[in-house]
Amino acid sequence: MIPPPSVEKAAVLAAFFFGNSYISRITNQRTTMRFLTAILSLLITIGTARGEGYTFLGNCTSHARNGATLTLTATNNVMRITVIDSATVRVQVGRDGRILDIPSYAIDTITAPPAAWVLEEKPDRLVMRLAGGIVEILKSPLRLRFLTRTGAELCADDSAFGHAWDGHEVMTWKRLDPSARFYGLGEKTGNLDKRGNQWVMWNTDFPAYGVEHDPLYVSIPFFIGVVDAGAYGIFFDNTYRSVFTMGAGSRRTYSFGAPDGEMTYHFFFGPEMKRVITHYTALTGRMPLPPRWALGYQQCRWSYFPAAELMDVARNFRTRRIPADVLYLDIRHMDRYKVFTWDTAAFPDPPAMLAELRRMGFHVVPIIDPGIKVEKGFHVDDEGVKRSLFARHADGTLYEGEVWPGWCHFPDFTRPDTRAWWGAHYARLFDQGVAGFWNDMNEPAVWGREMPTTVVFDDDRRNSTIRKIHNVYAHLEARAAYEGLRAHAPDMRPFLLTRAAYAGSQKYTAIWTGDNVASFDHLALAVRMCIGLGLSGAPFVGADVGGFVGSPSPELFARWMQAGVFTPLFRNHTTINSRDQEPWTFGEEIEDNARDMISLRYELMPYIYTIFREASLTGIPMMRAMQLEFQDEPESYRWDVQHQFMFGSSILVAPVVNEHQYFQKVWLPRGRWLDPVTNDVHDGGRFVTVDAPWWRLPCFFRVGSIIPRRAAVQYDNASPLTELTVDVVAGADGAFTLYLDAGDGFGCQRGEYDEIAFAQNATGSSLTINATATQNSFAADIGTHIYRIRNFDGLPASVTINGHSAIAAHDGSRIPDRGYHVDAGKHMLVVRVPAEPALRIVVTR
Ligand code: GLC
Repeated sequence: MIPPPSVEKAAVLAAFFFGNSYISRITNQRTTMRFLTAILSLLITIGTARGEGYTFLGNCTSHARNGATLTLTATNNVMRITVIDSATVRVQVGRDGRILDIPSYAIDTITAPPAAWVLEEKPDRLVMRLAGGIVEILKSPLRLRFLTRTGAELCADDSAFGHAWDGHEVMTWKRLDPSARFYGLGEKTGNLDKRGNQWVMWNTDFPAYGVEHDPLYVSIPFFIGVVDAGAYGIFFDNTYRSVFTMGAGSRRTYSFGAPDGEMTYHFFFGPEMKRVITHYTALTGRMPLPPRWALGYQQCRWSYFPAAELMDVARNFRTRRIPADVLYLDIRHMDRYKVFTWDTAAFPDPPAMLAELRRMGFHVVPIIDPGIKVEKGFHVDDEGVKRSLFARHADGTLYEGEVWPGWCHFPDFTRPDTRAWWGAHYARLFDQGVAGFWNDMNEPAVWGREMPTTVVFDDDRRNSTIRKIHNVYAHLEARAAYEGLRAHAPDMRPFLLTRAAYAGSQKYTAIWTGDNVASFDHLALAVRMCIGLGLSGAPFVGADVGGFVGSPSPELFARWMQAGVFTPLFRNHTTINSRDQEPWTFGEEIEDNARDMISLRYELMPYIYTIFREASLTGIPMMRAMQLEFQDEPESYRWDVQHQFMFGSSILVAPVVNEHQYFQKVWLPRGRWLDPVTNDVHDGGRFVTVDAPWWRLPCFFRVGSIIPRRAAVQYDNASPLTELTVDVVAGADGAFTLYLDAGDGFGCQRGEYDEIAFAQNATGSSLTINATATQNSFAADIGTHIYRIRNFDGLPASVTINGHSAIAAHDGSRIPDRGYHVDAGKHMLVVRVPAEPALRIVVTR
């Protein structure tokens, strides 16, 4: 049977017969459009026209420039293009001639100074020239092209479709460049490259999700497109259930749209992927620098219960000398799952327990679920009912949904008073001694399915249904918690972890990837998901190490711990009734390996903390896709390279993600790479195969890099950093600026931090290392620097420190101050120096 034609088909056919300019000229009047549709339907097909379908944006009839804004009047609608900064424009398409200007939940305020741009008018087009790129506006019909500064096409509307609407539905179609690859879209399964699939933004609780399942907990309607001309980004700031069809079912277009809301998107010119992320996060916000303890190892399970079990886990870490900073309390710590309560039989004295754990160096993070048990006399519920802080049905009655505590009320986080009240509850728990908060079930999840569409939220008096608020529910909860804690304890950096999120949530919270599975496929998926989140502006992410549902084999656990070392959030978690998953429960060999791996994380903390700080300033994630760091090297995009990544720009990590695989094939980009375990140096620009017995994590240091580290500690603040070790990977010039501060608080924003700029330069037969304190207001306790010049063979002819000869030491374990030692086996020259504001070490051969 021939399907009935829609207006869309009719319009396309009309365009085919009469040409685009004709069709767009006549589409300016809806009546004409309907008439045309009917005629075409009759002419071209057998069947009945639906009489509904897309209206495509018609011809541009006039334009007006006003400051940063260019308003384009079309025959049947209006479009507005606003210059946000030198490399970002916002595109808004009205509905029936009116731009709705729906306020954004992702963007707070635009801080960028107004960017200069030039408007050129040509008979068939308008051209907007920004410092970072060009927007070309074709007039008949009104279609957009986005070009690099030099005029190469990054992205263009499909010439027939472009932008359209159908009732409340809004859509955009872009031409699918044959070379296009797509990255980002937040927490997504599948391959790192999102091309060839359709992706839905609808925060969804799906326990034990499959490796292709979509959608999941987080909605970030932002992606990076990479074509031959370079990279660009698009952020479709629409909170409804949007759909991204990235060249799936069609090789002509890719598209994005939503059933309601506004067609508002931001376009970011690259052409560097990093630049796209920097501009996207300038708009939606960046991860604030977390407290340093949150970068340590974290241990969770559903549930440590009662208090004695939690204390026992804590003691095990310390007596077994396995470093750890964070312990979690899952839902059983509460009185019948009632939020902000304690089960006082199992946890009789929470402040005393928390204080004891703090003395042992642990920070405790309890779970928070937004469902509040409907119960008269339960103070949280009473307060919310009395003050009208809960979500309601359209008829004004309170909505009740069922989750862990039974039937529950749900806070209406769109209301500022609800957010302030919610935040104050966090502050009260904080005062009892908990250190951070774990926001779960905030998609929001309710048993059975999801909140019915009769549920409405205040939404600044717009009374919006759950259809609009669903995807930002968790985002607003995180905002409530973050703002509440900041106001309550101004000198504490909040640590929040969330399951659900929206674009911009990175400025409040870390994200974990929900209820994954203890399988190798999921280990691989966790790597891709975390990299994908980083490309989507959310750098502080992690997956449940070991897997949540089911129980890992010892080998899987070991491999996952290895990958966890270089995942921004390093948290082991498992479900109720699974086998124990603490590092010592798999036998001595696995425990030893886990200890080594976790210790490596703590040894690298000076480097790790510095790249977190960088991310907080630039948005560039710590865990980086290979193509983010090596955009011009085609191999970085290969599917068989998608599980290796860069941690900062110095360390390449290639975790083994397959069972019984004891070697690893690794793509090494151009340059040279040191294997820090074997001390082999490999030429880059090729694949290498290295041994990877179950206990070894394949990773490589970029030759030329400088990686500051320290002796491992049992927890972040166990002892001050007095001796700084600096791995200088010789063989190419390079630099690194180390960042140090108190590890918590906001003194750093008042300049209370230290920076040491390290650089290595080789000329002729000499290697010079400079270390200069460029900022010195925190006064770290570092008394000694130990330089480990790696990839160093033979004996030096001389070693000088600030012009004075250093002393050769024969015993590597006892190098005196201003002494050096050659460790031939490790291809390493070790120099020990008392810290000074400016150090210059010159090694000649
Ligand atoms: C959800 C969370 C999981 C938690 C469990 C019990 O499934 O995703 O991490 O352990 O609820 O609170």
